[in-house]
Amino acid sequence: MPRQVKKAKNNQTGFLSLISHKLHTPLAVVHLKASMLLDETDGDLNEKQRRSLQEIMRYAQELRWSIEKLLVFSDMDRVGPSAAPRPVDLSSYVPWGVERIVREVGSSRVRLAIGKVMPGIKLRMNEVYIDLILRNLIENAVKFCDKPEVLIAVALEKRGGDALLSIADNGPGVTPAQRKRIFEPFYQIEANASGQVQGIGLGLALVKRLAQAHGGRVELQSKRGKGTTILVRLPALP
Ligand SMILES: Nc1ncnc2c1ncn2[C@@H]1O[C@H](COP(=O)(O)OP(=O)(O)O)[C@@H](O)[C@H]1O
Ligand SMILES: [Mg+2]
Repeated sequence: MPRQVKKAKNNQTGFLSLISHKLHTPLAVVHLKASMLLDETDGDLNEKQRRSLQEIMRYAQELRWSIEKLLVFSDMDRVGPSAAPRPVDLSSYVPWGVERIVREVGSSRVRLAIGKVMPGIKLRMNEVYIDLILRNLIENAVKFCDKPEVLIAVALEKRGGDALLSIADNGPGVTPAQRKRIFEPFYQIEANASGQVQGIGLGLALVKRLAQAHGGRVELQSKRGKGTTILVRLPALP
């Protein structure tokens, strides 16, 4: 990469990292204070106040996830994965993690099907990154689904020394033209600057970078109108 381009790129990711670090703490405080108020330790709430606080919490949580995405994305670009890799039993972690994240995403439209999960698949990766991969894929499945019920099917198998995680949905799928670009950072912002769909277009780019940083890769299988399947392939421990 030419020096000028490299410098501009470093400045850009350094800047992203700086703002996301600066936004992270105040938002964590907003979230914490709202949740303390909701606990009613400082006094009872009426129904209207409770609903407003729940909304504040929901938006604060969404913002925190977006900022976490920015933070990890920019840090990955600059210094690689900072959370230390450690051995994880993916076969136990995935079903538990997926169920927890579906609960956190908090949509009553989701029907989750944990499919075939081969036992004993282990790899070296920090759980923080596994969660980020799962959360981004589940968020997308929910957010872009155009059906009243969101069907999410999760499976895990071992193929040729790799752990192969698949997350499939019954949403609108993506066109071949879109497919080329959706792993590019900020793609959605360019494609839909009107901001009708929430998000910053960083989820799939981050999932791809996280997989690559751990020696893996991400593939997408989709037919327009037939849902989307994301396959995450990561080197397994023997
Ligand atoms: N499961 C999915 N079904 C349909 N479209 C999807 C799905 N996942 C991602 N996309 C498309 O890829 C784009 C990029 O996704 P992502 O990087 O997660 O960004 P964001 O969720 O912030 O838009 C989305 O804006 C959407 O158009
Ligand atoms: Mg997304």
